[in-house]
Amino acid sequence: MGDEAEGREQLNVTAIENGTVIDHIDNDSTFQVAELLQVESEDGVVLVGTNLPSRKLGRKGIIKVARRQLTSEEVNKIALIAPHATLNIIKDYEVVSKSAIELPDRIRGTVRCFNPTCITNQQPVDTHFEVMGEAPPVLRCLYCEKSMTAEDVMLE
Ligand code: CTP
Ligand code: ZN
Repeated sequence: MGDEAEGREQLNVTAIENGTVIDHIDNDSTFQVAELLQVESEDGVVLVGTNLPSRKLGRKGIIKVARRQLTSEEVNKIALIAPHATLNIIKDYEVVSKSAIELPDRIRGTVRCFNPTCITNQQPVDTHFEVMGEAPPVLRCLYCEKSMTAEDVMLE
């Protein structure tokens, strides 16, 4: 594909003035990411793209949200369901920061343990997980010691 075709693709997904662009979303996770960010209640521009061509991923999703910065909890949730995503911060139409979305070594709260008999599902105790792998994500519960994959993860 030449530069010309890439230029035309860019026009399909408009640039934003200020806000956040989540790029390289694992394609099938695109709408789950849109849902967890509750983009439907945004007042500003929101663009959700899916099945976009990507050299690295084959197909990818992109979500652009004007005038919004993500919290670290939101970033952690995205890292769990879209481990290849990148985060771009846009100011005055420029990409001022670009980073791979990474999981911290430990995650407190944010996700529920999938083990129904875990104390965190019986008592009002915050969950706490050790991150054993990132892509695909594997979390180990520090209470019941069970390991969970992204499919098992229940976002709180
Ligand atoms: N973007 C945007 N609005 C802007 C600037 C950039 O929506 N004002 C989007 C671009 O469409 C792209 C992402 O932010 O999806 C990152 O922009 P850029 O770094 O310019 O694109 P690439 O070089 O293609 O990114 P990468 O190298 O991460 O693939
Ligand atoms: Zn547990």
